[in-house]
Amino acid sequence: MVLPCDWGSALDVGIIGGTGPLGSALAARLAASGLSVVVGSRVREKADEVAERLRAQWSGLETLRGGENDEAIRSETVVVAVPWESVVKTVEPFTRLLAGKVVLSLANALMKMGSEFSAIEVPRGSIAQLLQSTLPESQVVAALHHVPARELANLSHPIEVDTLVCSDFPEAKERAISLLGRVPGLRALDAGSLAQAGAIEAMTAVILNVNQRYHARSSIRLTGLEGEG
Ligand SMILES: NC(=O)c1ccc[n+]([C@@H]2O[C@H](COP(=O)([O-])OP(=O)(O)OC[C@H]3O[C@@H](n4cnc5c(N)ncnc54)[C@H](OP(=O)(O)O)[C@@H]3O)[C@@H](O)[C@H]2O)c1
Repeated sequence: MVLPCDWGSALDVGIIGGTGPLGSALAARLAASGLSVVVGSRVREKADEVAERLRAQWSGLETLRGGENDEAIRSETVVVAVPWESVVKTVEPFTRLLAGKVVLSLANALMKMGSEFSAIEVPRGSIAQLLQSTLPESQVVAALHHVPARELANLSHPIEVDTLVCSDFPEAKERAISLLGRVPGLRALDAGSLAQAGAIEAMTAVILNVNQRYHARSSIRLTGLEGEG
């Protein structure tokens, strides 16, 4: 059974694995937009250090703090920002506490063979679907797969990329789209149900290969949508 989501008024976000490049960048962007954000970690001190570093680097991040992952998961919206191999094992202990919450999945299951990145086939078709099956009472939304952490981390300029967002729960998807829309320049687009997550995750390998070839940090920007978003 899927519990109704608690759309409480307090907007807060907890990031499991928030100490990594993507989690910490997202934490800083969301805190800069006025949200309360917990940078989660397996190690409290590491979370505190990262939160302190971000607050020292950028002004206006007073609403950002560190905490263990089990504090991060108490937030209204929870982001799982750990490596793909660790996603299931990391959230499993929190299954009950995550019931009824919106949970964002960002992970890309990739491997490098020689100099080329390839997507890895995972059970259920994608990491996001695997996460949804691990958290049957949560509302998983897949997003941010193509957003380069280094660009997201630079709060001095808008990021100017699109992110494809999918979920089996329309309200949760809208919630995530509006959350991500707080990041300057990031256009979050509704890409359908969670069945689309496999294609979105796999596309990351293609983008990384292009970036290697052209020594770039490109992402995606869809054309023909001017005025939308
Ligand atoms: N980097 C990017 O540009 C980018 C872009 C799009 C999507 N993504 C996806 O976003 C996710 C995070 O990316 P990232 O580059 O920030 O990852 P990362 O640095 O490899 O890992 C993020 C955090 O996960 C925790 N972690 C590491 N190994 C773990 C394990 N075995 N079990 C539990 N937690 C573990 C660590 O936090 P603690 O040690 O503090 O617990 C680490 O700081 C990945 O799934 C990636 O595919 C990344």
